[in-house]
Formats: sequence, structure tokens, C-alpha cells
Amino acid sequence: MKTIEDLQVNGQRVFVRADLNVPLSDGRITDDGRIRAVAPTIAKLVAAGAKVIVASHLGRPKGEPDPQYSLAPVAARLGEILGRSVSFATDTVGESAKATVAALANGEVTLLENLRFNAGETAKDDAERGAFADQLAELADLYVGDGFGAVHRKHASVFDLPARLPHAVGDLIATEVGVLKRLTEEVERPYVVVLGGSKVSDKVGVIDNLLGKADRILIGGGMAYTFLAALGHEVGISLLQKDQIPVVLEYLERGKANGVEFVIPVDVAISASFPDTKTHKPVEDFEVVDADKIPADKEGLDIGPKTRELFASKLADAKTVFWNGPVGVFEHPTFAEGTKAVAQALLDSDAFTVVGGGDSAAAVRILGFDEKKFGHISTGGGASLEYLEGKTLPGLAALEG
Ligand code: 3PG
Repeated sequence: MKTIEDLQVNGQRVFVRADLNVPLSDGRITDDGRIRAVAPTIAKLVAAGAKVIVASHLGRPKGEPDPQYSLAPVAARLGEILGRSVSFATDTVGESAKATVAALANGEVTLLENLRFNAGETAKDDAERGAFADQLAELADLYVGDGFGAVHRKHASVFDLPARLPHAVGDLIATEVGVLKRLTEEVERPYVVVLGGSKVSDKVGVIDNLLGKADRILIGGGMAYTFLAALGHEVGISLLQKDQIPVVLEYLERGKANGVEFVIPVDVAISASFPDTKTHKPVEDFEVVDADKIPADKEGLDIGPKTRELFASKLADAKTVFWNGPVGVFEHPTFAEGTKAVAQALLDSDAFTVVGGGDSAAAVRILGFDEKKFGHISTGGGASLEYLEGKTLPGLAALEG
């Protein structure tokens, strides 16, 4: 893959596909990690005299403008981080984008509006995507792919556009891929993986692959209840994917055969309803029960103290750790203890620690941990999982040619 250094960017219009899909609450950015992560690439292009056109998606609008998914707040934050003004185009390939790009002097930066406001960006139909990529290509001379979080998407700006312009990989993607290679090639053992998040179905592929690689797999978050149900436990009204039970049983069997230890919660924090993660209203009926004693009318929302200790002990001697997905509803303080304990256990170990996934990365920062103390915090959730699954990622394949 070519890098930025292989391109002659001075005076050229350089299209940077970033992943600026940051969490927003009432129009306010609650975690700017992804903006900070791509800023060095943009700064490098600025220093080299490029006219920098940054583009990204935000959320999942339905192929037409939707103000709640506007990138305008991101343009402002990007400007603050770069310490220079960032102009904002209120469309993607329309009059505003054309005028804003035409007005760029060498070393200036503009951000286009959300690429997914155009149906061509995510279209399944190659011709429709290609037509949008053609329009984007008219805006630029060169392409830099640096939206690691979106490389698993076969979208116009990720997959089709690099085929239309001389291209290179940005520094963020280069770093991310370097780290993930360390998890797929010569892994230092014990290799412990912590998987959380809500759905087993999102993690099926990665567990399948890890069964041949990891030494231990710690299961937390909403997906743990499908594991508990597979073991025959009552899970009350906890999140449950019944259709995944046979898959889970097969994994547990295969784990035994391959010498991969699955570590499932032994106690959980429960309540009768999902907590209010906006107001943080106190949870009156909060209690901790053993994982095989969840009442029929309660739902599990975090791992309990015994599980926190168990997980910490399974992480203590690790040499490599990959963590994807919070193990509880960390957005509410009552159910943040499990996720905090996992983060702390990673910090306490001597392992090379990789935190993958928008949610777990945001959790680490929102819960007040110093992100620099982790080996690597990935900006990609789905992307890092699909990489570890061994899949070909369209956005990486496109940068290879
Ligand atoms: C992410 O948040 O994982 C990436 O930005 C990709 O977003 P998507 O799942 O909406 O394609």
C-alpha cells in the first residue's frame, strides 16, 4: 500500500475519507476520540501544502439530509483540534461542496456534509454507488483512505472512490492494521479476549475465529445472557437471542475440544427496567444475584463483584488482550462497575492491550481512564472485529491496488 509520503500533495486537492462518526447527545459531541485520531493525518497534509477535503458519515441517515446527523458540530471540533479554521460544505457533491472546495488555498481544510445524506454512498447497486463516486472524484485529485472504522463497508467513498483517484493509506489506518496484525500473527500468550456488547450475533464470526487462536474468552454485556441461557439458566427479562443458543452451545463444545476457556459471569447486577442513561436517575431496585438466580421479572445489566474479580484474575497473567464491547450499561453509574473493572484489569496487566470498538473505546474515556496507558485504542468496532474474523475488508482491499 502506498502511504501519504508516496503522493505529491502540494497544491493538490486531497480527499480524506475519515470516520468521524462520533457519539452526539443533543448536538454535543460526547467523545471526540475519532476526530483526534485522524487529526495527525490532516495536519500532515496541511503541512505539505495540500487542499484537504475531509469526508465522513455520521450515524445512519436514510440517504437524504437529516439535520440530527449533520457533521456541522464535527467541523467546529475538528477546527479546534487542528488549531485552524475548517470550512464546512452543507452538502456532499452539490453547489456548496463545489464552491467550498474551489475556495481552498494550499494548506486549508474543509469538511463535507454527511456522505450518507446521499443514497449513492451506501447503495447495494454498483452503478448507483459508482455514480456517486464519480461525483466525489470530480472534487479531488488524490485520495487518502483513513476512515478505519468504516473499512468494512463497501460504500462509495470507501470502496469505489479510491479506484477513481491515485490513492494512499493514511497514518491512522496504517497504525490500526499494524496493531491488528500483532493479534493475528505471532501472538504472545496467554492471549485473553474480553467480549461484551449487546448481541451474540454481532460476535459470531469473531468467536469462531478466536476459537483457534485465543487462550481464554471472557463473555460480558448483553450477550452473556444468551450464554447463561445456553447453560440452562433462567435469565428473566435480560437481553436474549434464543436463536443463537445452538451456536453458543457449539462454541462451548469447540472451546473444550480446543483448550479455549470460556469465562461466563457468575453473578450479575439486575433491575426490573433499563436505567435512564441520560438523567442517571437512581436505580431503586438495584441488586446483585448469582448468575443462575436471575428472577423472572428482572434483567441483568452488568457483571457483579464476583465476576469482576474472576475476570481480573483471568486477565492478570495475560500477555496479549483484545477487548471489544462494554460488559454492562456503563452509561449509568450503577452499572458501570464491571466495565471499569475490565479497564482497570487491562491497565494492571503487563499485556499488550488493544481496546477495539467505538463503545468500549468511548467507555474507557468517559469513565475517566487515561487512554495513553492502553497499548492501543482502536477507532474501529465492526472493522476490527471483521479484521480479526479474517475477512477481506473492502476499504483496505481498495487501497491495495
Ligand atoms: C462505526 O461506528 O462502527 C463506524 O463508523 C461504521 O458505522 P456503521 O456501522 O453505521 O457503518
